[in-house]
Amino acid sequence: MCIFQMNSHAVILVAVCVLVPGSYCETDTISWCYNDANCSAAHWATLAPQYCNGTRQSPINIVSANATGNANLTAFTFEGYGNTSALGVMKNTGKTVQVTLKPGIKISSGNLPSIYDTLHVHLHWGNGTAVPGSEHTVDGKRYPMELHIVNSKSTYNQNVTLAQEDSTGIAVLGFLIEELTGTTGQPASWKILTSLLANISVAGQSVEVPAGISLDDLLVGVDRTKYYRYLGSLTTPNCNEAVIWTVFKDTIKVSKDLIDLFSTSLHINDGSSPLMVNVYRSIQPAQPVSTQPKSSSTRTGFSLGLMVLCLVLRWI
Ligand SMILES: *[C@@H]1O[C@H](CO)[C@@H](O)[C@H](O)[C@H]1NC(C)=O
Ligand SMILES: *[C@@H]1O[C@H](CO)[C@@H](O)[C@H](O)[C@H]1NC(C)=O
Ligand SMILES: *[C@@H]1O[C@H](CO)[C@@H](O)[C@H](O)[C@H]1NC(C)=O
Ligand SMILES: *[C@@H]1O[C@H](CO)[C@@H](O)[C@H](O)[C@H]1NC(C)=O
Ligand SMILES: *[C@@H]1O[C@H](CO)[C@@H](O)[C@H](O)[C@H]1NC(C)=O
Ligand SMILES: *[C@@H]1O[C@H](CO)[C@@H](O)[C@H](O)[C@H]1NC(C)=O
Ligand SMILES: *[C@@H]1O[C@H](CO)[C@@H](O)[C@H](O)[C@H]1NC(C)=O
Ligand SMILES: *[C@@H]1O[C@H](CO)[C@@H](O)[C@H](O)[C@H]1NC(C)=O
Ligand SMILES: [Zn+2]
Repeated sequence: MCIFQMNSHAVILVAVCVLVPGSYCETDTISWCYNDANCSAAHWATLAPQYCNGTRQSPINIVSANATGNANLTAFTFEGYGNTSALGVMKNTGKTVQVTLKPGIKISSGNLPSIYDTLHVHLHWGNGTAVPGSEHTVDGKRYPMELHIVNSKSTYNQNVTLAQEDSTGIAVLGFLIEELTGTTGQPASWKILTSLLANISVAGQSVEVPAGISLDDLLVGVDRTKYYRYLGSLTTPNCNEAVIWTVFKDTIKVSKDLIDLFSTSLHINDGSSPLMVNVYRSIQPAQPVSTQPKSSSTRTGFSLGLMVLCLVLRWI
């Protein structure tokens, strides 16, 4: 039951189930949803008040003009993101579609305090391209979908129960997805991935992602050195305030036919239950956001100065 009902941050709830067996477990895992009147996001603060009612909640609207420059926000190091056999099982969790990654995929740098293991990828969406459903918005704009790559501090050995108790235990990479117009079936990696949605139309079903596509392939077209950074939370109960958020400025561009498959292929329960649509949390109060410094002219000037100094010193 717990496993069947688990959400997009599923490992956490499984861990809760293991730690607290019995009725608490069942209530905890059953009681939240996106769209039923009795358990939708408006109720999360009551259902999981310890965190969902907190002061560092996600998602947020990112006001680009308010993002402060921070030169420490360097490029990430991605390990295994080019591996075309690293995507494992893709599952309909009843709340999202989630792809578990095989071990050995990691990120570091990018001003993260540690190395993080990449655990899984999942998505949020609205109702096709017509009703956008990204979680983060930028300057008030909501995008059709958002992809989340969930990572946990490697010192916790992929134990998310421990990671979610650490205020920087989890690092999520967020990618906004925009419509690629004038074409169908693009990008090819997304065509392969979405072709499997028909195999998992019922919640609890899963399918093996065939070898041939990597995380890099799914992130096509994104300059991963340009991003927003803030401290926030998981966007599903229990909404733990444990997340270092990275939201990339570039979008992944996916054709409309493929975006529409998410809202037309998956059921939230059995085949007669509603389709999975509008699976995103609403905007939470603003947090301080930082990004790469706007202009590098001062640094360039400084570097040029250094270069000249070096040349002079060498000549001396
Ligand atoms: C919410 O209502 C649905 C039926 O609409 C029911 O199946 C579900 O158990 C209810 N959840 C809670 C937490 O009461
Ligand atoms: C949420 O927090 C606010 C402010 O701390 C409090 O007034 C409110 O009662 C809390 N709501 C719940 C459901 O715990
Ligand atoms: C953005 O900054 C302006 C002033 O610089 C402030 O009034 C506004 O509240 C800020 N908005 C957010 C969402 O932080
Ligand atoms: C950048 O990193 C340095 C060294 O860790 C630190 O002293 C400084 O406060 C950081 N700058 C910002 C804006 O966080
Ligand atoms: C790619 O991932 C697979 C599955 O985890 C692994 O067996 C293989 O060694 C990895 N390849 C490389 C080049 O790391
Ligand atoms: C989603 O969009 C479809 C097609 O436009 C529509 O029939 C359906 O009612 C929408 N679902 C919801 C929950 O808004
Ligand atoms: C995670 O760590 C906790 C606390 O040490 C432990 O009780 C639990 O069994 C661990 N979970 C897993 C899945 O290893
Ligand atoms: C997905 O479903 C199709 C049609 O039923 C089937 O032919 C295919 O083998 C399935 N793919 C996987 C990977 O299970
Ligand atoms: Zn998410």
